[in-house]
Amino acid sequence: MTRAARRAAVVVLISGRGSNLRVLAEQARLPDSPYEIALVLSDQPAAAGLQFAAQFGIPARAIDPRDSADRAAWEQRLADLIAAQSPALVVLAGFMRILSAGFVAQFAGRIQNIHPSLLPAWPGLHTHRRVLAAGDPQHGATVHYVSAELDAGPPILQGRVPVLAGDDEASLAARVQTIEHRLYPLAVHWHCAGRLR
Ligand code: GRF
Repeated sequence: MTRAARRAAVVVLISGRGSNLRVLAEQARLPDSPYEIALVLSDQPAAAGLQFAAQFGIPARAIDPRDSADRAAWEQRLADLIAAQSPALVVLAGFMRILSAGFVAQFAGRIQNIHPSLLPAWPGLHTHRRVLAAGDPQHGATVHYVSAELDAGPPILQGRVPVLAGDDEASLAARVQTIEHRLYPLAVHWHCAGRLR
């Protein structure tokens, strides 16, 4: 059996830029990586991360909700494509759609998400804006397992950054992303190496 055949399959879901996908793909290329990215799926045909996946030679495709009869049909297509890979892990990397309880149950314990806040603080959207408006002195990112409740599943790793005088949403987001790019490869590696329960 080849080394590649022994690696755990990971499916990454994206909606946009794909910078977290990039760091995961870089890690997957390392000789001792316990996983390979088997498939990248996007709900957005124009997601920049799809081009990036192609550059890395990772199979990637967009599943546009507009091509399905309704939300349930779209999600079923997504679930079928993912299940066909028998993935050890489904990684949400800037995937901007809420997945149903049925989807989460199908891949229970096998879905990770990265959220740009120190959960349980600031679930939901626009976290940087809300942190600035609240005057929080610190901010960060959390990798967690996904449960049916939004941004509320068991946390795996958190990274903290300071909020600095003069920060705006863009500068704060960039600082948080730096820490995301350290957290996500660790959490995915640990899961695929069997070090998380
Ligand atoms: C990240 O900030 C992540 O926390 C949030 O969406 C963003 C995705 O960024 N869930 P990228 O597409 O990986 O660059």
